[in-house]
Amino acid sequence: MDNYVTIFDTTLRDGEQSPGCSMNKQEKLQVARVLDELGVDVIEAGFPAASPGDFESVKAIGELGLGSRIAGLARARQGDIEAVARSLENCKHKRLHTFIATSPIHREFKLKMDKQEIIDGMVEAVEFGKQWFDDIEVSAEDACRTELEYLVEFFQAAIDAGATTLNVPDTVGYTTPREAREMFKYIVDNLQNADHAILSCHNHNDLGLAVANSLGAVDGGARQVECTVNGIGERAGNASLEEVVMALRTRHDRYGLETGIDATRLYPASRLVSAVTGSRVQPNKAIVGRNAFAHEAGIHQDGILKHAETYEIMKPESVGVPENNLVLGKHSGRHAFRKRLEALGFSMEDEAMNELFDKFKSLADRKKSVYDEDIEALVLGTEQSGPWHLDAISIHTEVVDDDQSAEASLKLRYNGQAPRIYTGRGDGPVNAIVNAIRAILEEDLHMERFQVSAVTHGSDAQGRATVRATIGPNRYKGTGVSTDIVEAAAHAMVSIMNRHQQHQGRLPDEDRLKAAV
Ligand code: KIV
Ligand code: ZN
Repeated sequence: MDNYVTIFDTTLRDGEQSPGCSMNKQEKLQVARVLDELGVDVIEAGFPAASPGDFESVKAIGELGLGSRIAGLARARQGDIEAVARSLENCKHKRLHTFIATSPIHREFKLKMDKQEIIDGMVEAVEFGKQWFDDIEVSAEDACRTELEYLVEFFQAAIDAGATTLNVPDTVGYTTPREAREMFKYIVDNLQNADHAILSCHNHNDLGLAVANSLGAVDGGARQVECTVNGIGERAGNASLEEVVMALRTRHDRYGLETGIDATRLYPASRLVSAVTGSRVQPNKAIVGRNAFAHEAGIHQDGILKHAETYEIMKPESVGVPENNLVLGKHSGRHAFRKRLEALGFSMEDEAMNELFDKFKSLADRKKSVYDEDIEALVLGTEQSGPWHLDAISIHTEVVDDDQSAEASLKLRYNGQAPRIYTGRGDGPVNAIVNAIRAILEEDLHMERFQVSAVTHGSDAQGRATVRATIGPNRYKGTGVSTDIVEAAAHAMVSIMNRHQQHQGRLPDEDRLKAAV
């Protein structure tokens, strides 16, 4: 359909690449389900050759049987393509997304390949991928800084080899809306059999132009937009899915284009991605920010009361912003709880829902009012996100004159085995917890940031601990929530240990674990 724009979501791949936004397998599955409900056409689930953890996540998402097509990323190399093929072998609707850089600077300094070698490499990749995939997307990395005639030559070879989508990434966020439109127009006008493939744009936000450039590309003939929820992504991020979709919808008079997105699922999807990644949405963020529909100025309020459209081009409910910030409590029933979960973007099977409802009830016993943030914390805190599970923690602190020392004992269960106690000493409780974990990992663990904030207001609020740490060359983020902030910090550290293990894709050896006790 000429007037249909395919929405290709790369929250789980490009989005996940942004610092501190890494997700574990359970979190990725949760996000994939929500993207599917949102009506995303293609979900880029990851880069299977990048790590065993990525491979497993792509495989698990491919096996969910979602309506969305699932794509895996591969460099134009046989090993990468085989990894995508293996990870998606049980997936019905799948796509291979292979890329190679085309710009002069990448050719000369990164790849050390000439123009023809790059075309040959890409054609070989497409030919190789065809044994598993009939849907193949080819990306020309750094396309926007590539000579236009060469770009057309490159894409012509991709079409002739059998590629079905041609992606024009603005890898470094350099282009401008008019340039994007002209570039796409040039490609459409100069490609033979351009109708054999869909042209796609993929814009980074370094100049804050990713959405504008995506719309420019659509004006020039792009019929696939690559984007992420909340615009998360490398450096300044990617084009934001909700902004692109709502611009096309709100200005249908201008674009005349359709997407398959159910806009009423945009806000829940944004909340979920923000909660899962710990990457907060700025209050003035278009469409999904806390203030996106808040009218403060008296003149505006007056206008809104007289006729909403005086100052409102979209209705909050059209993007799924809940009408009221319903507060639940111990008298709230299962039905109200499920409805709230759905409004927040969480979908789950009955069994998981029942388990969560019990946890909600016990939280409601401790806390008078249970807010949306408490529910998000409950869901995300319940996920079994790795082999380590914290059963209990005890802390002993001593202050003598000005010197404080602490000992932490963590009762940890590994892969469902009987629990063991791991201890660590330090000059404070958190330092002692970190030292206990250091002894288990026997790797260079460096804590970069430690933050505690109240999940909601009130003196009975739960505390959320957010820890950013590096283990060797890898950077991780972990969060933990509890009414006790030291326990929250311990949960955050255990979550970092789980993420590290999933990233490494290997389990620690049993002797070392015993030694760390
Ligand atoms: O920004 C980029 O160039 C990419 C490609 C892999 C599509 O993310
Ligand atoms: Zn990118």
